[in-house]
Amino acid sequence: SLIVPSVQELAKQPITKIPPRYVRQHHQKPLPVSSDDTSNISVPVIDLHSLFATASESLTYSSELNKLHSAAKEWGFFQVINHGVSESLLEDFKREVLKFFKLPIEEKQKLCQKEDSQEGFGQLFVASEDQKLDWCDMFYVNSLPHKFRNSQIFQKLPPILREKLDAYSTEIKKLTVAILGQMAKALGMGNEEMSALFDDGTQFIRMNYYPPCPEPELALGFSPHSDATGLTILYQLTETPGLQIRKDGKWVSVKPLPNALVVNIGDIMDIVSNGVYKSIEHRGIVQSHNERVSVATFYSSSMGTEIGPAQSLVAKHNVAKFRRVTLEEYYKDFFARKLEGKSNLEFMKIEEF
Ligand code: SIN
Ligand code: FE2
Repeated sequence: SLIVPSVQELAKQPITKIPPRYVRQHHQKPLPVSSDDTSNISVPVIDLHSLFATASESLTYSSELNKLHSAAKEWGFFQVINHGVSESLLEDFKREVLKFFKLPIEEKQKLCQKEDSQEGFGQLFVASEDQKLDWCDMFYVNSLPHKFRNSQIFQKLPPILREKLDAYSTEIKKLTVAILGQMAKALGMGNEEMSALFDDGTQFIRMNYYPPCPEPELALGFSPHSDATGLTILYQLTETPGLQIRKDGKWVSVKPLPNALVVNIGDIMDIVSNGVYKSIEHRGIVQSHNERVSVATFYSSSMGTEIGPAQSLVAKHNVAKFRRVTLEEYYKDFFARKLEGKSNLEFMKIEEF
């Protein structure tokens, strides 16, 4: 990654125009949003209480499982409530993340990305000097398995943030694996098959800070993309909306709900489900007066596993829509393609689809 200036520092200057590196080409500008009337549609909300209670106790189990299945098929995005992650942990973690981004820039720079790694404070996927930049500062770490943690970075984190990040990582993994277990049921996939892929998965955490922007109609908080992961869990820490997903050709906002987490299907889960669940394009917009803060937790299968449609589903559907590759190959291609702006999912498709 190239080292880029902090957008938060830039936004502190008395500027009325944003530098050209942040001005999007016409087709990427967020402008059409206001003309799209998407204000009255929103992503489904799934109540996990009835799914996580033992099936016999819950009368609403099968209807909620159906809701989860439809949401994953038709939206690729949903919000979850009663997800089991404690409110106090969410509050504590939020406070520490907000404090982190308020630290003096000199402190954050001690955690700066190094030339050879994406981890640390900075911006992801910056490959050239003329590339458009996101209106965002971020902090990115590998969090699971533990042996993948960069101890130099973890040691330099403020101790309470480190403690809360660790607890958050554990809780979000539990939640992710539990949701994947329900998806296995809904898809009619062997539970062992899902477990073998994901019980020991890899987790990455990215904290995002989107400062107020003097020309929000020209910039993006993050460029349109789909996630390369299995499942992503997004915690929107502030009330400022910004995440938009592409639904039937329109951009739909995913408004922050109190105590809810956003879940989305990534490319790997799209592939594992043999295309039944959808990895959906999304982007971030910014506002002129409000900052926005979020934490995205990406979860993929364990190292050494093969990415491909679940065997049980290939048998059931009678056809495999995607190729099989090792997770390592998959990520190697992903990083190469990401920098060319190409979709990884397209690349995994078997021709006739
Ligand atoms: C965000 O909504 O702030 C980030 C979502 C993403 O990583 O795509
Ligand atoms: Fe994403």
